[in-house]
Amino acid sequence: MRFHPVPSTRSYCEDAMKYLIGIDIGTSGTKSVLFDTDGNAIASATAEYPLSQPKNGWAEQDPHDWWEATCKTLCEITKKADGEIVGVGLSGQMHSMVLLDRKNEVIRPAILWCDQRTAAECEEIEVILTRERLVEITGNPALTGFTASKLMWIKKHEPQSFARTEHILLAKDYIRFLLTGEYATEVSDASGMQLLDINTRTWSDEVCAALGVERSMLATVHESPEITGYVTKEAAALTGLPVGIPVAGGAGDNAAAAIGTGVCRYGQAFTTIGTSGVVFAPTDAPIIDPKGRIHTFCAAVPHTWHVMGVVQAAGLSLNWFRSNLASEMSYPELDRACEEIPIGAERLIYLPYLMGERTPLLDADARGVFFGLSAMHTRLHMARAVMEGVSYALYSSLELIRAVGIDVSEMALCGGGAKSGFWRTMLTDLYEMPTAIRESTEGAALGAAILGGCAAGVYTSVGDGCARAVRDRSVAYPDGARHAAYLRYYELYQSLYPCLKDAFRALQGV
Ligand code: XUL
Repeated sequence: MRFHPVPSTRSYCEDAMKYLIGIDIGTSGTKSVLFDTDGNAIASATAEYPLSQPKNGWAEQDPHDWWEATCKTLCEITKKADGEIVGVGLSGQMHSMVLLDRKNEVIRPAILWCDQRTAAECEEIEVILTRERLVEITGNPALTGFTASKLMWIKKHEPQSFARTEHILLAKDYIRFLLTGEYATEVSDASGMQLLDINTRTWSDEVCAALGVERSMLATVHESPEITGYVTKEAAALTGLPVGIPVAGGAGDNAAAAIGTGVCRYGQAFTTIGTSGVVFAPTDAPIIDPKGRIHTFCAAVPHTWHVMGVVQAAGLSLNWFRSNLASEMSYPELDRACEEIPIGAERLIYLPYLMGERTPLLDADARGVFFGLSAMHTRLHMARAVMEGVSYALYSSLELIRAVGIDVSEMALCGGGAKSGFWRTMLTDLYEMPTAIRESTEGAALGAAILGGCAAGVYTSVGDGCARAVRDRSVAYPDGARHAAYLRYYELYQSLYPCLKDAFRALQGV
């Protein structure tokens, strides 16, 4: 693969001593990054926390862990600012539901985006509202990952928790509440609650009434670059942030990563591999897949939308593999070892459905598979197959985005997966298109900080922020022969799920 460095356009302007902070409440940990107004990361800190899986397919976290990680990481990075911190932006795992009582106590652990317990509630929602009407209003069919079905589950299975609920917040919005005292959200994350009318970018009275959700429980919806509140004295004491600086709406992690990679225009797209994997494409109007296989949400740039395909267990698959089967190897060591294994892992295919699957299957019952395992295979074949299987899943999202009529002509890569040159080459070859990586690898945190910069008046618009803070590092080009080799396995990969669909369902019923 050829990497072509792009010259830096870093500029030193009169406000170079102003700083912005982006906070990303991820699934494996929270990352806070201090940026200068040219998008250079000056300091970064990450604090990890556990994911609890009380049952097969369930996923929960303690929101207090997010706050502790936020305070810890902010204390570390705010110390490094030798100038004025002027704005904060938030990004975070989407859909993950926090319930607060009237004293603002967390009622139960947050039910996360990758939790699959709500298949029955999804069916009920589509009966109550009809699938057609739900898609018309919210852009999507009822999905187990989204917040609305989690709320219905709580109503049915933990009525005592629902009775105590005064506020329903998403992960980053709970952190916003602790930073500012405001119950606020913004359109990109609110879209993933499935209670928002994505056409008008406001809560849908019709959906809320049909599902029995009081409007008073929901946060105020803003556009992503708007000011949603100001850092309080109490939060400042715990984090090192200056009192009174503005906190922007921010965005769900994928919409924030779009800003942090400068993917804001129709025709552009990016792929990210974090815990989940996403292929994301901005649009000028809501474009909906009639079968609901890719999501349609409001984007962080006002008056724009986006579609995205979501692979539930992308980085999670490799993380699971490494923790269980190769814990003594670092990711770069795994990469180097896997490079020695030929494309196709000598006829071993992995289906990455550890936490069910969204795009394109919409199947909460699906589970992971190694297909073609032979006595000659080693754990390195398995590791390569894991990375290939995740890449095939992402490629099928890209194919679907094209199938709904979006002409993707540019692709950027970000997230942890883009740090692996090996994985990047694999995606570039499989996609058969050039892929760019940006100078900053901070995707979502940079996007959040740019939105913070808009709220603080550092940037005149999201576009201005991207122009000032996002730069290309290099572009990689695909290899036709390797693309053809991957395609043979991809076709087989695509044929496996239909053979297993009924068996997955039967397995969950055992
Ligand atoms: C998107 C989704 C995931 C989470 C991961 O719909 O559920 O990408 O946002 O943090």
